[in-house]
Amino acid sequence: MFRSVLGAISNEMAIDLGTATTRIAVAGRGLVCAEASAVAIHEVRGARRILAVGEAALEMLGRTPPEIRVVRPIIDGMLSDFEIAEAMLRHLMLQVQGRTLWVGPRVTVCVPYNTIDMEKRAIRKLMEAAGAREVRMVEQPIAAAVGAELPIDEAQGHMVVDVGAGTSEVGVISLGGVVYSRTVKVGGERMDRAIIRHIRAEHGLLIGPRTGEQLKCELGSAMPVRRPAVREVKGRDIKSGYPRAVEVTAQEIYEALRSPVQLIIDAVRASLEHTPPELAADVAQTGIVMTGGGAMLSRLDRCLSETTGLPVIVPEDPDIVLVKGALRCDEPRPGHAVAG
Ligand SMILES: Nc1ncnc2c1ncn2[C@@H]1O[C@H](COP(=O)(O)OP(=O)(O)OP(=O)(O)O)[C@@H](O)[C@H]1O
Ligand SMILES: [Mg+2]
Repeated sequence: MFRSVLGAISNEMAIDLGTATTRIAVAGRGLVCAEASAVAIHEVRGARRILAVGEAALEMLGRTPPEIRVVRPIIDGMLSDFEIAEAMLRHLMLQVQGRTLWVGPRVTVCVPYNTIDMEKRAIRKLMEAAGAREVRMVEQPIAAAVGAELPIDEAQGHMVVDVGAGTSEVGVISLGGVVYSRTVKVGGERMDRAIIRHIRAEHGLLIGPRTGEQLKCELGSAMPVRRPAVREVKGRDIKSGYPRAVEVTAQEIYEALRSPVQLIIDAVRASLEHTPPELAADVAQTGIVMTGGGAMLSRLDRCLSETTGLPVIVPEDPDIVLVKGALRCDEPRPGHAVAG
């Protein structure tokens, strides 16, 4: 009785704690928050004060005096700094709920498939410390598949590939559960670093991670470029130390991205090889659904489709598919795998 009263007045919330972005969706409202997973803290003699959370904190990166640090509490999809993550989540949860709420939300949080029990306990503790009244966990491949509206409870195999910032996770799903999964530490950030390395080696110019990411989003492609496109890029000359600008072509960016893209393709191919034959035959028909912000890399879908010979589908707004799916996972369905 008490529980049902609480249920009626508190929010249902889904959280995707990503390496780059933390996303929150609320039942009836959809996506309510997508903030950079970053916190700026002021630290003097062990006393910490939060200065900024999210994008505002990220903007300080590389521009702070020594007593200010910008911390990214999620690394490669895993919780790496509990205290900072708690401060960040508390801030974001308050922001989306307003300050008047006196009953904590029921939270469904997406976790990578291979999350071990110790990490699950840490995530549960984190959510409770940040104000959750009840915590449920859903494996990311399930959240991705549900978010992409795949009929996952049927006895048919589906493959989802989530290309995030820190990792890419392949999952094969059947009868509401994950049958096979493989994670590689290759995602959008690895692509950014490949671009930064390339600009340094070929142009003798140092650029920051945000410029690298911008080049990837604007010029990047997973397949050879047909139309010539050029951007001017500003950075610091490695020899003189002075600011300088160079012209970078889309073809160069494609070359720089080849290796990280290949690693993602290899992970999908290896997963297909390890998928039980009946399910592999299903995937050959149903195709591969690609989610995550990395799925927006120009022609990555085409590249994956040509190398595997399978259809590849990228849903609309692939970066928010997981959190949307996690919210729907909260609705009870027969045979549905909610762990924790
Ligand atoms: N148009 C685009 N082209 C290429 N990459 C893009 C594009 N838009 C976003 N990205 C990349 O997608 C990545 C972010 O994806 P996403 O938000 O799914 O990651 P995350 O959930 O924070 O990380 P992870 O799942 O690894 O913990 C970033 O590296 C970003 O640069
Ligand atoms: Mg993610």
